[in-house]
Amino acid sequence: MPNPPDLAALLESPLARDRDAGPMQRQLHERLKRAILDGRLAPGSRLPGSRALAEALAISRNTVTAAYEHLAAEGYVQPDRQGTRVTELSSPALPRRAGKSAVTPATPATARRLAAIKPGTPFTEPDAALRPGVPALSHFPAAAWRRALDRAIRTASPATLGYGNPLGEPRLRAAIARHLAIARGVRCAPRQVVIAEGAQEAISLCVRLLSNPGETGWIEEPGYRGVKSAMRAGDLRMVPIRVDAEGLCASARDWREHPPRLVYTTPSHQYPAGAVLGIARRLALIAQARAHGAWIIEDDYDSEFRHTGEPIGAMQGLVPDAPVLYIGTFSKTMFPSLRLGFLVLPEQLVAGVQAPLEEMLRGGHRHEQLAMADFIESGQFGRHLGRMRRLYRDRQQALRLALTRHLKVPHEIDGGYCGLHLTVRLPPRFDDRQIAAEALRHHLAPVALSSFAVQPLPSDNGLVLGYGNTSAELFEPLVKRLSQLARAAARSGA
Ligand SMILES: Cc1ncc(COP(=O)(O)O)c(C=O)c1O
Repeated sequence: MPNPPDLAALLESPLARDRDAGPMQRQLHERLKRAILDGRLAPGSRLPGSRALAEALAISRNTVTAAYEHLAAEGYVQPDRQGTRVTELSSPALPRRAGKSAVTPATPATARRLAAIKPGTPFTEPDAALRPGVPALSHFPAAAWRRALDRAIRTASPATLGYGNPLGEPRLRAAIARHLAIARGVRCAPRQVVIAEGAQEAISLCVRLLSNPGETGWIEEPGYRGVKSAMRAGDLRMVPIRVDAEGLCASARDWREHPPRLVYTTPSHQYPAGAVLGIARRLALIAQARAHGAWIIEDDYDSEFRHTGEPIGAMQGLVPDAPVLYIGTFSKTMFPSLRLGFLVLPEQLVAGVQAPLEEMLRGGHRHEQLAMADFIESGQFGRHLGRMRRLYRDRQQALRLALTRHLKVPHEIDGGYCGLHLTVRLPPRFDDRQIAAEALRHHLAPVALSSFAVQPLPSDNGLVLGYGNTSAELFEPLVKRLSQLARAAARSGA
């Protein structure tokens, strides 16, 4: 049994008497705990009597007793007739020496899967100019939203502070079903709508509910990075399917050689290249998915903002019982940190997934959901969309003009019928990743087109430019800057 002076040495450092170090009892408890976990206080050894230790450390006996009681309550020591004994722990839980990790390394398969899920671009604050996917944050009607939130908190019962329906607030699910029927031609009953933490969680739910590890998931090439992380996390075999001017271009050979369980697509506004999936391809995709027992994940992330021509209806409503999971988000129509999106389940899936979803999810953000329902029902959401549609159309035209006038390198502009971004293709000799990295130093956040592709072709070279959150009067100087950066990034001799 260590005697008190030994134990004082085992404490590694003397107890500190200044206020910032915290109460003596907590310090003593922490030090003894560490000595036990490190193995310096062996299992079965006895702690000194509380009086002896109090004297050795010049602290009160009550302090020592309280620290011992705390250790006993946590199971580190056990009082017995002869005093206090260190419990037999199966192995030291902490590393003996700093720097040597005692954490079990992930299995190779887990490590590989986790290493594959990494951000394509570093996190930047959303106010960097030209960042794709960010709506006009300073034009958001914050006062009206605050009033809707206030109303939700004032009128909801205290029970609303508890968990809600795991699939979402019934009022919001009904409001979304009505809105989608009118705005997007989606056919659904409120019970088919599941509220999620944005489109990203909705995509992850599709992967978790409808696929098994090792099965095949098709993604668009180039395409949205978020779906890749969801499929990687689900251990799916990802097959990139090229997109062309008419969107996802799956051949009979693709269906034969890599039949998918899941097909992810952005048919109304391909992200990031901007194509619209034509009706012939939509119907063929639905027919093939049916024949192969595949589910189509239709990500309709920004089509409320259609700038030219007639609105493009959703695939979901095209034919009855289409094997389509429709996904929408309030990240573009409201603001991204709201973290509200939704999934519309096909009728034939509702019975099978409702119980698992109720068990997997917890109903939260209830006041935000109620405020969102209020916003839609009162017509404020529709008016906000109308204002933003006009703003984005003007910004898109101004950006197009600035590119035509001031981007002094050969380029082609893709898309722009819809949404919040334009894609500018550059000849391969202009290194798009270098341009994007340099731009970031100037607080501009265009994203390299090649970074959206798993196996980029030379034609997947260019910049995805967001105009949602950048004022139109800035486009001229910004495009002039991009033009300089592009020329500087030209590969010599190419
Ligand atoms: C294609 C696509 N889908 C979905 C989202 C939005 O995801 P969330 O609703 O999780 O913010 C984005 C965001 O940029 C996107 O580009």
